[in-house]
Amino acid sequence: MKIDVLTLFPEMFAGPLDVSMVRRARDRGLLDLKIHNLRDWTHDRHKTVDDRPFGGGPGMVLKPEPLFEAVEHLTAGLADAHVVLLSPAGRVFSQAIARELALRDHLLLVCGSYVGFDERIREGLADDELSIGDYVLTNGALPAMVLVDVVTRLLPGALGDDASAQDESFSAGCLEYPQYTRPAEFRGWKVPEVLLSGHHAEISRWRAEQAQQRTRRLRPDLLASPAAETRARTEQAQDDL
Ligand SMILES: C[S@@+](CC[C@H](N)C(=O)[O-])C[C@H]1O[C@@H](n2cnc3c(N)ncnc32)[C@H](O)[C@@H]1O
Repeated sequence: MKIDVLTLFPEMFAGPLDVSMVRRARDRGLLDLKIHNLRDWTHDRHKTVDDRPFGGGPGMVLKPEPLFEAVEHLTAGLADAHVVLLSPAGRVFSQAIARELALRDHLLLVCGSYVGFDERIREGLADDELSIGDYVLTNGALPAMVLVDVVTRLLPGALGDDASAQDESFSAGCLEYPQYTRPAEFRGWKVPEVLLSGHHAEISRWRAEQAQQRTRRLRPDLLASPAAETRARTEQAQDDL
């Protein structure tokens, strides 16, 4: 997959996307990630990307010209490019949206700054508009990094063990079950016996129950999702066998 990011702050991306799983995905050719500075598509001495809002008000608005030029340049000849504006007004990003994005060949993530985008950018350039939550960040760099990280770990082969992506939180509308490692007893807290039993069917059943209980306690809203209903039906069918 190819991901281009258009930002006023390319220096923010050094570090988080150069380590760990994203680094490995890049090194293995699963992810071709390029960070572009929006000011490279300006033509004046001051590299101007913003201007005062028509109608008055505080702050500066991102101008359409450099953004249109940049997006047209980066998507030229690429019919499959999917342009995503990062914006608090977008649909709220989720694991389900990440799975959709991970199927695409080319994403172009457009980071806003200042008070945001001239509305014509939204109307004329964006295929999608995504928010990472109901709060306002200073600019779109952190939201773009969140998207890159979440989508990259869903690319086939990015995680060493594909099963771990299937079982983890949100994948089937549930939170993950409790995990334990050695020692079997730590300061009086014991690992549940079933996990030491070696009985795979019982371990699976225990994990499914624990995931349900934890989700009901911490995130009951997730249990109403279509993914959770499918999972509950599958588990019921397995129990009935
Ligand atoms: C200070 S914010 C602009 C907020 C805008 N004036 C508003 O009230 O919706 C500047 C930029 O940061 C990014 N941003 C801020 N919060 C975000 C969020 N929750 N999700 C995605 N992007 C966000 C967007 O790219 C946005 O254009």
